[in-house]
Amino acid sequence: MTLLKPKVLRFESLPSTNTELARMASEGAPEGLAILADEQTSGRGRLQRAWLSPKGAGLYFSILLRPQAPVDQWPLITLAAALAVGDALQEAAGVPTDIKWPNDLLSGERKICGILAEAIDTPGGRAVIVGIGINLAQNAFPEATSVFEATGTRPDREAILAALLSALTRWYSLLGEREKIVAAWSSRSSYATGKLVQVSNGDEAWQGTTCGIEPDGALRLKTATGEVRLVRAGDVYSLRATDEHRCA
Ligand code: BTN
Repeated sequence: MTLLKPKVLRFESLPSTNTELARMASEGAPEGLAILADEQTSGRGRLQRAWLSPKGAGLYFSILLRPQAPVDQWPLITLAAALAVGDALQEAAGVPTDIKWPNDLLSGERKICGILAEAIDTPGGRAVIVGIGINLAQNAFPEATSVFEATGTRPDREAILAALLSALTRWYSLLGEREKIVAAWSSRSSYATGKLVQVSNGDEAWQGTTCGIEPDGALRLKTATGEVRLVRAGDVYSLRATDEHRCA
């Protein structure tokens, strides 16, 4: 079990908290060092997308992990981070969330948080930066939502941050217990099983019904031919959110 001891550095403005923390990690920063910025001028999302980060509109946060767990378990870190954000939004803002594979947090089917986990080489060994962007008061994208929109009240960024730090500490300590993370993630994601989805990954796209996740976090997708594909990267879109499908 690894006990995380987060220490948060605060900045008014940074290009990207992930990029700045990667720089600090390359200079020997310890596990648990975290960065919070009021705005990002070059915020980054998954798949080389931009993450719009205007001042005061979101919680822009990154934390440095130096996991002892074998590298094949590292994909579970993003699942654990999604569980932690879900806990924090519920506890500190009263917002229930769904998780869209791999780690988008949704409120009422619209995105409220994105997570960008990046593995990097540092002189102290391979490390992971987990970057979390929570829409507090404004949507990063028109189709997204925010804590303000979900609750109708001004979000308390400090309360959400405090809840996030303790939830990250809790879930990170369970990293060695793969089955607990997979079970918790599956119970909190309407995408885990029986959802008709399209998955696109660059030029390729597949449709199918979700059939749970693998122990390493890969999504099982049963296509129309009955073949089960393992998806390790890409975007998932719900095709008919209300339909229940069978994956067995
Ligand atoms: C995604 O859904 O595409 C992931 C978005 C991740 C955004 C956060 S904001 C804090 C951290 N710094 C970045 O540049 N990106 C992440």
